[in-house]
Amino acid sequence: NWTTGNVIEEQVAAIRELVGDRRAICGLSGGVDSAVAAALVQKAIGSQLTCVYVDHGLMRKGETEQVEKDFVAATGVQLKVVDAEERFLDALKGVSDPEEKRKIIGREFIRVFEQAQAEIIADEGPAVEFLVQGTLYPDVVESGGGTGTANIKSHHNVGGLPEDLEFKLIEPLRKLFKDEVRMVGQELGLPEEIVQRQPFPGPGLGIRIVGEVTKERLDLLREADAIAREELTAAGLDRDIWQCPVVLLADVRSVGVQGDGRTYGHPIVLRPVSSEDAMTADWSRLPYDVLARISTRITNEVRDVNRVVLDVTSKPPGTIEWE
Ligand code: XMP
Repeated sequence: NWTTGNVIEEQVAAIRELVGDRRAICGLSGGVDSAVAAALVQKAIGSQLTCVYVDHGLMRKGETEQVEKDFVAATGVQLKVVDAEERFLDALKGVSDPEEKRKIIGREFIRVFEQAQAEIIADEGPAVEFLVQGTLYPDVVESGGGTGTANIKSHHNVGGLPEDLEFKLIEPLRKLFKDEVRMVGQELGLPEEIVQRQPFPGPGLGIRIVGEVTKERLDLLREADAIAREELTAAGLDRDIWQCPVVLLADVRSVGVQGDGRTYGHPIVLRPVSSEDAMTADWSRLPYDVLARISTRITNEVRDVNRVVLDVTSKPPGTIEWE
């Protein structure tokens, strides 16, 4: 009979036995799956686990702090944070094409992660033989099942795994669905903001700016996104929507009037969707008063934004993300 307590106990025992006195590493993305996988492995082997968090500067407001402070406080995990914002922004300079952005972010991510990995391996201590992955049951099924090796869609991990993978994988969530993972995370005492987090793409806000990615635009989008999230949460809608990308149309300007002057600013797009598995989606019929509050606040509080528009496209034909 399935309880979160049983799952945790079983996994902890199995991981202890598997790892013995060797070491493991785990990449944290800020998402639910990697956080819960890391917390489980931490419970099993404590300081023999080191987590790596690459801050690519494309996270939403407050997310890096949640990993750096709240997650560490809740788990006691040993965490190596790599601040790579400048490196990512440099690499993205002048690039507007979505696929090119994705490739650059994936490539830089692997480089930074591998370097952090090499530094951990070089530290004094037992051999680092294991890599922890937050693979879920639906990922296992989609990728053809079975083997316990790294056959995961690159789409769902930034850049996927290095080709010459030499680690043995620990995938403690392989038998679980998302809602079960959230329950396990809760039982392990993880912060609500992490356990209940909605899906967020690996390339982050980099693919929610239509146009070139710059620090200034990221800051602007972060503000707009934080307002939308705040209002959706306040309205109690978090469980009704699957996710709500907030997109900055940086290459588009429109005329507006604010205070007593003409403005020529950028539109923000709200893309709330309902979905079961992100393969198909429908646009969420959000209450008008919630939309109105979000729109008023974003245009009042976010510099250079003078228009908020709502995406009413299903998937298909639209994807959930704009890029
Ligand atoms: P699309 O835009 O393809 O998105 O309808 C489907 C789901 O996948 C998420 N997404 C990603 N997740 N890395 C990820 O980890 C990615 O590169 C990526 N691109 C899209 C998207 O947020 C949605 O939940």
